[in-house]
Amino acid sequence: MARPKIALIGAGQIGGTLAHLAALKELGDVVLFDIAEGTPQGKALDIAEAGPSEGFDATLKGTTDYADIAGADVCIVTAGVPRKPGMSRDDLLGINLKVMKSVGEGIKANAPDAFVICITNPLDAMVWALQQFSGLPANKVCGMAGVLDSARFRHFLSVEFGVSMKDVTAFVLGGHGDTMVPSVRYSTVAGIPLPDLVEMGWTTQEKMDAIVQRTRDGGAEIVGLLGNGSAYYAPATSAIEMAEAYLKDQKRVLPCAAYCDGELGVDDMYVGVPTVIGAGGIEKIVNIKLTKEEQEMFDKSVDAVKGLVKACKEIDPSLA
Ligand code: APR
Repeated sequence: MARPKIALIGAGQIGGTLAHLAALKELGDVVLFDIAEGTPQGKALDIAEAGPSEGFDATLKGTTDYADIAGADVCIVTAGVPRKPGMSRDDLLGINLKVMKSVGEGIKANAPDAFVICITNPLDAMVWALQQFSGLPANKVCGMAGVLDSARFRHFLSVEFGVSMKDVTAFVLGGHGDTMVPSVRYSTVAGIPLPDLVEMGWTTQEKMDAIVQRTRDGGAEIVGLLGNGSAYYAPATSAIEMAEAYLKDQKRVLPCAAYCDGELGVDDMYVGVPTVIGAGGIEKIVNIKLTKEEQEMFDKSVDAVKGLVKACKEIDPSLA
């Protein structure tokens, strides 16, 4: 059986890291696409030359021609511009919306059967626009944010509790922005919910509140440290986890930006929710119950995404 084909649209910091990880994990053959002539070709060759030492079997091709992504099983989209210090993800809207139009058309014409994972920010609005421009079924187009935000939350929790992150589960709901909702009640250490751990005296409410806020600001913290771009190792790893769930039909339960049609009270839009990812793409949205307070935070986050979608429609009336 032929290897799966993984097309990476955007060969910048995240795109290059995605290619490296996909090759190391032997997920399939990789095509790196970018508009910057030389960049995708250079990165593909560089990673291919790591193959003999690492011992992976995968071909890597760099290209500026959409025809080369033909028949891709998975497309991961990072095309666009990242944040600079002081910018919010929303500041990227106008420029990255134009990029989503060309990427959506490229995928529609060349890889209409792919499972598409968008990473470009502002995430929830960009994945919505990408689905509109590409015309692919909504269950085959999703956005990577929740896996990353949850990984950040899990990392901070494992450090606080001094335990392996393997034993920490956590998830984050809502939009991938300042209003995201790290779910404290549904996050656990070895199955023990965080509120119980506070009650047991293992940590304090103040420390939990600080970790929730640090999770919300996780992207900005890296942008501030790097000074010339945004995070790429953890975002790439998170998207690869989603791609692997699809390619291997793992039925993973992962939070991601998925199209909601009534689930969690959200109608006709993309937002971060718990999903099941398998060979059918987004096979299910886990329609969890929220408390009144959680629902209020979630609704606020949904409203923020709605505002961005409205702004997209104003910029590009073809989306209305
Ligand atoms: N088509 C294809 N590639 C494009 C296009 C386009 N229309 N426009 C820009 N690109 C490419 C750039 O040439 C660049 O190589 O997208 C790549 C983006 O790479 P980086 O600038 O290194 O950005 P990166 O850190 O990878 O982040 C990409 O993901 O997390 C988000 O906010 C982040 O929106 C940003 C995206």
